[in-house]
Amino acid sequence: MNSASPSGPTTDWIRVIEEGGGFPRVDLDTFRRLIEKTQNYRFFQVLRKHVKLDDAVLEAGCGWAVSSFALAREGIHVVALDISDKLIQDLQNIQNQWGEDANNSLELLVGDLFKLDELGRQFDCIFSDGTYQHFLRPEERKEILENLHRRLRHKGKLIVAVQNMKNPFFKIVVGSKMPPMQTFGLKSLRQELERGRFEVIEDGCAFVNAGFEQWLKARWLAWPVNAVNQIFERLPRLAQSLFAAHIYCVARKR
Ligand SMILES: C[S@@+](CC[C@H](N)C(=O)[O-])C[C@H]1O[C@@H](n2cnc3c(N)ncnc32)[C@H](O)[C@@H]1O
Repeated sequence: MNSASPSGPTTDWIRVIEEGGGFPRVDLDTFRRLIEKTQNYRFFQVLRKHVKLDDAVLEAGCGWAVSSFALAREGIHVVALDISDKLIQDLQNIQNQWGEDANNSLELLVGDLFKLDELGRQFDCIFSDGTYQHFLRPEERKEILENLHRRLRHKGKLIVAVQNMKNPFFKIVVGSKMPPMQTFGLKSLRQELERGRFEVIEDGCAFVNAGFEQWLKARWLAWPVNAVNQIFERLPRLAQSLFAAHIYCVARKR
């Protein structure tokens, strides 16, 4: 797929990644640890619950693609797509060193959310974790949703997580290299997906994903964040929704 895109958020991301400000190259052992950590991430657990072994899955705007690697390791066929050539090349290097059969299940592609039709195939499930909210203009998000809708099979599932900018600690903890984000609550995320001809069948909140530490303002902040991560699942529902790092919706194509 062609990697040229006129969109501002996309250009910001390419710059951040190429300057080494996000998704730096990691070694195989570090990557294996990220994949083990992702098993405890609620969004991944929700994804795992909804994806069947014979599903064709697309991760749209994959970043480090940790969830995609974790699904592929189980033999689930996943296409992980990102706009950054550099990132996809780094991930292909990791994949080449992987040396397990599950490797055959993962396709890493350079591609653009605005040109998804170029993929020319359809999926049973599309997921996206922390990408959708970077598109600040409603017409861009509408276009992305239309593209995802067309790439899904009949009754296919779209599983989307966005950062919870309503968390009072978010801006204190996350550094400025992360490009700007639209603020969503569960209600506004649901409404936007419903307007895009999806039926929301589940929603909820999650704490941090496996690769969160790279986005912190200071390294020491990893300690309190990891401490909350340990107890997050035991917090009352109200506290979870307040302190969530991500909110998510599972939706079915109408
Ligand atoms: C916050 S990251 C995703 C995080 C990832 N899920 C993770 O946990 O590592 C957003 C990603 O969207 C990608 N992206 C931005 N614009 C895009 C576009 N137009 N098409 C495809 N990917 C895009 C960026 O390159 C970046 O890797």
